[in-house]
Amino acid sequence: MKPSFVISLTLCSISAAVGQEILSDPGTLGPALETIHLFYDQWLTGFTVSASGHIFVNYPPVFPNSINFTVGEIVNGREVPYPNLEINTPPGGRLNYSTNPPTSSNSEDHLIGVISVITDTEDRLWILDSGRVASTEGLAETAYGGPKLIGMHLTHNTIFKKILFDQTAVPADGYLNDVRIDLNPALTPSGQGVAYISDNSPEGRTAIVVVDLGSGAASRKLVGDPSISSHPGFVPFIWGEAVYSNSSSISHFSVGVDGIALSADGSTLYYCPAGGRSLYGIETKYLLDNSHNSDVLSRSQIQVLGDKGLSDGLETDSNNNIYGGNMEDNSIIKFNPKTGLVQPFVRDPRLSWTDTLSVATDGYLYFTENQLWRAPIYWGGIDRRVKPYAMFRVKLPDGGVKVSRPRRE
Ligand SMILES: *[C@@H]1O[C@H](CO)[C@@H](O)[C@H](O)[C@H]1NC(C)=O
Ligand SMILES: *[C@@H]1O[C@H](CO)[C@@H](O)[C@H](O)[C@H]1NC(C)=O
Ligand SMILES: *[C@@H]1O[C@H](CO)[C@@H](O)[C@H](O)[C@H]1NC(C)=O
Repeated sequence: MKPSFVISLTLCSISAAVGQEILSDPGTLGPALETIHLFYDQWLTGFTVSASGHIFVNYPPVFPNSINFTVGEIVNGREVPYPNLEINTPPGGRLNYSTNPPTSSNSEDHLIGVISVITDTEDRLWILDSGRVASTEGLAETAYGGPKLIGMHLTHNTIFKKILFDQTAVPADGYLNDVRIDLNPALTPSGQGVAYISDNSPEGRTAIVVVDLGSGAASRKLVGDPSISSHPGFVPFIWGEAVYSNSSSISHFSVGVDGIALSADGSTLYYCPAGGRSLYGIETKYLLDNSHNSDVLSRSQIQVLGDKGLSDGLETDSNNNIYGGNMEDNSIIKFNPKTGLVQPFVRDPRLSWTDTLSVATDGYLYFTENQLWRAPIYWGGIDRRVKPYAMFRVKLPDGGVKVSRPRRE
């Protein structure tokens, strides 16, 4: 055959193929995203929307870059320190260089490294300070005074509660990550309700910390259980890329218990490690039990609820749907405990790391996209995050709103 004949035959078959419609991924699903805020400066994780529509945001210093404040509020489209700059500015800095290696600041009167903010069913703000700050050598350990839970009245922006965690509640290499509050007075003798906190210690000392909001007593539950630990060998695939922990050496993507969410009635805590794709649950009565065999009993009561994809935060609405990211599918899923089914709810190519989800009283699911997977620790020190980070919202299905769990006497 003459070469020219071969070429013309090939061109002919290419032009024939171009005209074909090949079935392909539609890429989107569910309600359209509304953009609420774009973040051009500090990197954020958590946020919450109050009943009157105030949006509070937190910026954890987990990568070695400086932040001016770790809790802020979005006011007229601008991010400003909340409740003020002073409480966000530990004297001497967030890191304490008088120790070697440096430790995180121990200032109990200041916010050190806030990782989560939420509003409770009485529209009060809870600020979870991990007390842990990154130095150039990695996450510095905490010192007593750093890890704490602060309750604030939003009417006068005053602190009504401060619970400091000692090292039996949270070891120096613990990392308090997310919190859920149940104000049901029947839960503890103090009658002031309970906080459930995920500890996803990167050093592997994971736990669910249960805190009596009245006495401040805290106990570590399910310590190191496989259900709250990163799954061995886990590799997320996001936007067509395999994500490894990539700094001085390469290792599997490893994050322990991260997302937690209470069922609408407070009777079950749902949770998931961010180093895996599974959803778990446990009835809260087992977490509240401090009897002699409670550790063994609680581990025997863990519900394995199946795969939902990789999520960071979890959230609940008044219809008792549980929402979480499914990062590898650019989507947010909805888990229905009644049917046991996980279904995609929203899908959009802008989704890649849905960090925090927050249901507001206005009937919307708000969520943040913060590109965590593109941070330097996953790419050999190269920061592949591209500002702005984003906060979106979508309308909840079936008239869902924020859970209201009135205090039961
Ligand atoms: C932080 O402070 C620096 C120096 O004053 C300023 O340039 C920067 O805009 C501030 N960032 C925020 C988020 O306020
Ligand atoms: C720094 O560490 C020293 C030694 O542990 C301690 O005495 C001091 O209170 C710490 N200061 C802060 C602000 O963390
Ligand atoms: C680790 O990071 C380096 C630098 O960004 C990159 O070239 C390499 O591909 C990364 N390795 C993996 C397995 O992600």
